[in-house]
Amino acid sequence: MSAAVVLAAVLGGGVFFIARRIIFRRKALRLMSYPPALMRGKTVIVTGANCGIGKATAAELLKLQARVIMACRDRQRAEDAARDIQNQAGTSQGEIVIKHLDLASLQSVRRFCEEVIREEPRIDVLINNAGLYQCPYSKTEEGFEMQLGVNHLGHFLLTNLLLDLLKQSSPSRVVVVSSKLYKYGSINFEDLNSEQSYNKSFCYSQSKLANLLFTRELARRLDGTEVTVNALTPGIVRTRLGRHVNIPLLIKPLFWLVSWLFFKSPLEGAQTPLYLACSPEVEGVSGKCFANCEEEQLLSKATDDHAAKRLWDLSESMVGLRR
Ligand SMILES: NC(=O)c1ccc[n+]([C@@H]2O[C@H](COP(=O)([O-])OP(=O)(O)OC[C@H]3O[C@@H](n4cnc5c(N)ncnc54)[C@H](OP(=O)(O)O)[C@@H]3O)[C@@H](O)[C@H]2O)c1
Ligand SMILES: *[C@@H]1O[C@H](CO)[C@@H](O)[C@H](O)[C@H]1NC(C)=O
Repeated sequence: MSAAVVLAAVLGGGVFFIARRIIFRRKALRLMSYPPALMRGKTVIVTGANCGIGKATAAELLKLQARVIMACRDRQRAEDAARDIQNQAGTSQGEIVIKHLDLASLQSVRRFCEEVIREEPRIDVLINNAGLYQCPYSKTEEGFEMQLGVNHLGHFLLTNLLLDLLKQSSPSRVVVVSSKLYKYGSINFEDLNSEQSYNKSFCYSQSKLANLLFTRELARRLDGTEVTVNALTPGIVRTRLGRHVNIPLLIKPLFWLVSWLFFKSPLEGAQTPLYLACSPEVEGVSGKCFANCEEEQLLSKATDDHAAKRLWDLSESMVGLRR
């Protein structure tokens, strides 16, 4: 009797979850129906475009006929991803360009921007997507704590150096990939580089809160121009972001099952960055955060103008934009 109940529950649950996945997929596919040549003639930079959300976003932009600049730190991984994306995109498609960018090196960021400014007549969209999560304590080339350095400071310099080109190309857009985990962070102005103590989850949250404060301050500075900047939180997406998190071997199959059932696919995770990069619905919208292609209400710590300004000024001196 009880065995039958358990069996029925397991089967019923299985059917429910599979149905749920199928419905989720439909929704994602319905969401991404943009006119086929929407991005023709437009150039989009996607950082960290060789896997996960960035790769899925680049693939969709290519199908919409954009010129997609994949800004990646590893040429081989970028080339493999580019081949994949091109094979999926079919015949009518845009163009892919790979450029080297290591956000953990300000010299690399500067070199990347010089190359873009020299070679690209216009940039219509910049998608700050690359990121890393809960890595062991390490430092960027300039000695910044790695998560803050890559997720926030590298993108801070990148965006600032490309701002003139974005303005010349206006109307243009900046899209910032943050995370709901910002909620567990704060900006530790006293020890921004975690030299006194390192908490890897705090540092991730701090960097993702920094993304939101950056978005807010940049939107304020760009007021009156036709360059908009919006952030997003993608939800939980099945990607390689958790590469530094050790899951015990025995739990792995269970984790795999749970992630297959409940996590978004990279394509689903790419819907909101894609929406902010190209939907006419958000034309002229700036300084907001989105989730599932809808505006998301943020905690007050992410809309604190004083903290946003303070972080901006500090970031400027850290990356050497202010002398
Ligand atoms: N997955 C989620 O559930 C989730 C949830 C909330 C927010 N996010 C955010 O979504 C964004 C994309 O993450 P993902 O989930 O797609 O993870 P992912 O699969 O690990 O992709 C991250 C990308 O960032 C690149 N990257 C890392 N360090 C870099 C550096 N120093 N210079 C240049 N590129 C670098 C990686 O390149 P390599 O392959 O060379 O390492 C990779 O292309 C991140 O900003 C993340 O914080 C993800
Ligand atoms: C690390 O930071 C997280 C998130 O801010 C917090 O919940 C946790 O308690 C911290 N851990 C330690 C050991 O302080």
